[in-house]
Amino acid sequence: MNRKTAVITGASSGIGMELAPLFAAHGYDLILVARRGERLRKLADDLVKVYAITAHAIPMDLAQPAAGEKLWRAISAVAPDIDVLVNNAGVGDSGDFAVEVPEVIERMIHLNVSTLTSLTRHALTGMVARKHGKILNVASLAGFQPGGPGMAAYYASKSYVLSFSRGIRRELRGSGVTVTTLCPGPTRTEFEETAKAQKTWLFRWSKPMEARDVARAGFDAMQRGRAVVVPGLLNKLLAFSPRFGPAAIALEINRILLAQRR
Ligand SMILES: NC(=O)c1ccc[n+]([C@@H]2O[C@H](COP(=O)([O-])OP(=O)(O)OC[C@H]3O[C@@H](n4cnc5c(N)ncnc54)[C@H](OP(=O)(O)O)[C@@H]3O)[C@@H](O)[C@H]2O)c1
Repeated sequence: MNRKTAVITGASSGIGMELAPLFAAHGYDLILVARRGERLRKLADDLVKVYAITAHAIPMDLAQPAAGEKLWRAISAVAPDIDVLVNNAGVGDSGDFAVEVPEVIERMIHLNVSTLTSLTRHALTGMVARKHGKILNVASLAGFQPGGPGMAAYYASKSYVLSFSRGIRRELRGSGVTVTTLCPGPTRTEFEETAKAQKTWLFRWSKPMEARDVARAGFDAMQRGRAVVVPGLLNKLLAFSPRFGPAAIALEINRILLAQRR
């Protein structure tokens, strides 16, 4: 029987942790990546007990320069061919850009942009040669916005993920490889704490979706080879909203939503 292998980055919590059992239930062997190795190993052990799969944990900091290359070597040592790559690991950072910590921004860009791009490039070599493969890139509702005052670098990083994924999807048409972009709105995970976004009006006013529902929407869209998926009806409307008004108004609304409540 042909085994299928999926790599999921950011599998130690939130959306990535909810994606893993969906792949396992569909018979995928798993390679799980994040920094917290204990959590990854526990998830891998739990899934192996329930499903007839193998699961490997690769603890690694993907915010380091050249992390994509390093991870690809580690993946290749475990599985020569992979069928699915899920670029889910990502972080945010709230605050005015001029006072954000430079190292925090640099690590965020490495993780959200550089490592995602590098891993995608490495995965595509084999996928294109085999005329078979799926990539699921996790962007955000933020990716549709003209800018995010209060989270400017994060919003820009997610616009990159959306634009990059749409571009390569078109390049790959007819190749047997699909690229799907998952664009969640506010979701109940560790993100709002690590991104220091708990006090923003966005997270206070909105009712976050459950990570399980977001993961399911992303998994289903990827299986169908869809281009972009925005889970949740309100989020779908919000994704379209920047098309109907001037960018200046969207920027002003985002500035209010991303302001920190005192
Ligand atoms: N939650 C939301 O409201 C929301 C909305 C839109 C988009 N998103 C996107 O959804 C994706 C998943 O986030 P989430 O909401 O599930 O948040 P989360 O619960 O904080 O999960 C983030 C995952 O990324 C991993 N990660 C963070 N820094 C890493 C690093 N330097 N190296 C390797 N792995 C790292 C974390 O694992 P370790 O800490 O163990 O490394 C964790 O597994 C992100 O790309 C995020 O931007 C989230």
